[in-house]
Amino acid sequence: MNTVILGIESSCDDTSAAVISDGILLSNVIASQNVHEEYGGVVPELASRAHQQNIVPVVDAALKRAGIDKNQLCAIAFTRGPGLLGSLLVGTSFAKGLSLGLRIPIVDVNHLHGHVLSHFVRQSPDDRVPEFPFLCLLVSGGNSQIVLVNSYNDMTILGQTIDDAAGEAFDKCAKVMGLPYPGGPHIDRLAAEGDPGRFKFAKPHIPGLDYSFSGLKTSFLYTLRDEVKKNPAFITENMTDLAASLQATIIDILLDKLDKAVRQTGVKTIAIGGGVSANSGVRQAIVQYSERHNLTAFIPQRAFTTDNAAMVAIAGYYKYLDRIFCPYDAAPFARVTM
Ligand code: KG4
Repeated sequence: MNTVILGIESSCDDTSAAVISDGILLSNVIASQNVHEEYGGVVPELASRAHQQNIVPVVDAALKRAGIDKNQLCAIAFTRGPGLLGSLLVGTSFAKGLSLGLRIPIVDVNHLHGHVLSHFVRQSPDDRVPEFPFLCLLVSGGNSQIVLVNSYNDMTILGQTIDDAAGEAFDKCAKVMGLPYPGGPHIDRLAAEGDPGRFKFAKPHIPGLDYSFSGLKTSFLYTLRDEVKKNPAFITENMTDLAASLQATIIDILLDKLDKAVRQTGVKTIAIGGGVSANSGVRQAIVQYSERHNLTAFIPQRAFTTDNAAMVAIAGYYKYLDRIFCPYDAAPFARVTM
């Protein structure tokens, strides 16, 4: 009998459900919420309500697309945290209810483990996956971490941000430039046309493998403020060069610590994950770095860089194989733990 896992993701503003059978992805359905657009960020209260409306049809669609009857499921994996509590409660409660109805176990998944293990989501048995141990640069709107991945269920955070995450640096600087939220994809698009060496912004001097992005944000803000005083049209006239220079600085900061981690651990395989790993410059920089240092690099398909239930299902699959289940009194958690 195949091991069939239903994954549910509801940590932020995407309701997603996926079905994985013996480690192969059969379906991955995502309902994005556009109710937040006019507010320039995710409104937690609205996100919870939209999850409540979406969850049943999304799970139903994932099962139908996979051609799987709910009675064939072996376990239900759900994101327990970190994320927005109200949103997480929807997925958690739904997973518990369905599991009691079907008399199958629940498996709780740390959203960040999910991003790391998204590299093991295979659409065909021939798909290439990383070998252990590997280093994963996890860069999203809420986190920037370097994770040493020893096995599916054994990972250690070697370094993480002490203030803003890389995605926040993209989004906050983009906001100052008058770009819509989230700004990361807009910076990516504009940067492709600009000169990355035109402007210089502050880089942090933090010991060890931790990151910091708040100094860059401040230096970006001050540069723009000073220039706009001299020329009110400065931002619009320099949009692409500003984007390219900002992106190049973020990439430098990310690569600097990743390089340190590679040297310290001697690990030969690197991977990236999280929303910011969709960035063209980041992807290219990782590939070039790995070629220069003779490493193997894993760059996720863009569909698996943002929040999705496929990564939750695969993380749940490997916990299920190790018989790591979740008790029914488990509550979601909002903050980062690993
Ligand atoms: O992992 P994710 O979807 O969400 C959470 O953090 O929960 O990451 C979202 C972040 C946002 O900051 C967004 O601006 C950034 O990923 N992002 C990008 C790109 N696509 C998404 N940043 C830079 N370039 C992109 N192409």
